[in-house]
Amino acid sequence: MRAWQVRETGEPNRVLQLVDTPQPEPSWGTVVVRVRAAAVNFADVLLCQGRYQVRPPLPFTPGVELCGDVVAVGEGVTDRRVGERVIGLAALPRGGLAEYTVMEAATVFPAPDSLDDEEAAVFFIGYQTGWFGLHHRATIQPGDVLLVHAAAGGVGSAAVQLGRAAGATVIGVVGNERKVEVARAMGAHVVVNRAREDLVDVVKDVTGGHGANVVYDPVGGDSYQRSTKCVAFEGRIVVVGFAGGTIPQPALNHALLKNYSIVGLHWGLYARRDREAVAQAHSQLTRLANEGIARPRVGERLPLSEAAAGLQRLAEGNTVGRLAVSPGLG
Ligand SMILES: NC(=O)c1ccc[n+]([C@@H]2O[C@H](COP(=O)([O-])OP(=O)(O)OC[C@H]3O[C@@H](n4cnc5c(N)ncnc54)[C@H](OP(=O)(O)O)[C@@H]3O)[C@@H](O)[C@H]2O)c1
Repeated sequence: MRAWQVRETGEPNRVLQLVDTPQPEPSWGTVVVRVRAAAVNFADVLLCQGRYQVRPPLPFTPGVELCGDVVAVGEGVTDRRVGERVIGLAALPRGGLAEYTVMEAATVFPAPDSLDDEEAAVFFIGYQTGWFGLHHRATIQPGDVLLVHAAAGGVGSAAVQLGRAAGATVIGVVGNERKVEVARAMGAHVVVNRAREDLVDVVKDVTGGHGANVVYDPVGGDSYQRSTKCVAFEGRIVVVGFAGGTIPQPALNHALLKNYSIVGLHWGLYARRDREAVAQAHSQLTRLANEGIARPRVGERLPLSEAAAGLQRLAEGNTVGRLAVSPGLG
């Protein structure tokens, strides 16, 4: 079968190689799937660069999440069956950018019927992360104002839809005009193009000076710093990621003076420590998907052969909507 492999770490378009490799066998607690579609996530960029929190042994195949059909079930797996269409996490070092891969059964769930293969492939991490960030970490309430950075991106666009579903007024921040349209189509009430406008002015204007109750930040750096200037009294800044490349060093005296909270979010830890909570979130998210409220926007559907180029575009911040790679396209 064909699979992309990283044999040394570096920029995705330099280090990824498409190779022929044997089809995997299931081990204890895993299932083998035929990949229908795999998502391209920022985590895959970091994996290629050797900068992700998990460093699989070389060579490895990136592609942390996917949609596939179960073709073999390992020992110890009781709740999955051959032929089932599923979504969830790949069991690295075997990722989803391949024709077949292995998934940890504990993080495999039925794919929502209302989503096609590419939509289902990009659904799991983004919406799970949004659910835990907004509901568990930020306890978002109807009527809150939610500020979402990278609102046309993977986790950001999911947070826009889930924030709106929770009854919040959503302000999205994006990097260019094309992304303004995407963030608006995802449901943001107001969209700030950070290349042209200052988000602090817009948030203060929209909220009559009160600020945003919840900030969802997958970018870090300057985006985080600007958020602290427009977070509301008793607001919550959810630290989701550092796609901008700079990890902020927050001034805790500022958090004290303005009475706001800085809350970390590592969704993968929920997946490891509280599978029941992840399963409950999956049923809520499946309901929202089937009601048409939660639906990822797939900007590009790529054949397997174009995965490395797609990953590189994501690394450079040049993608709009989600990228999915489908081996069936060639
Ligand atoms: N905490 C968790 O559990 C969790 C879970 C999933 C993902 N994450 C993290 O969330 C972040 C976003 O992941 P994603 O897959 O959803 O990616 P993404 O949002 O699709 O892509 C990153 C976006 O960040 C913005 N950005 C701002 N400055 C950038 C820069 N210097 N370089 C590249 N992008 C820049 C760009 O949007 P604009 O141009 O519109 O600003 C870009 O589209 C990553 O850091 C990822 O590791 C965390």
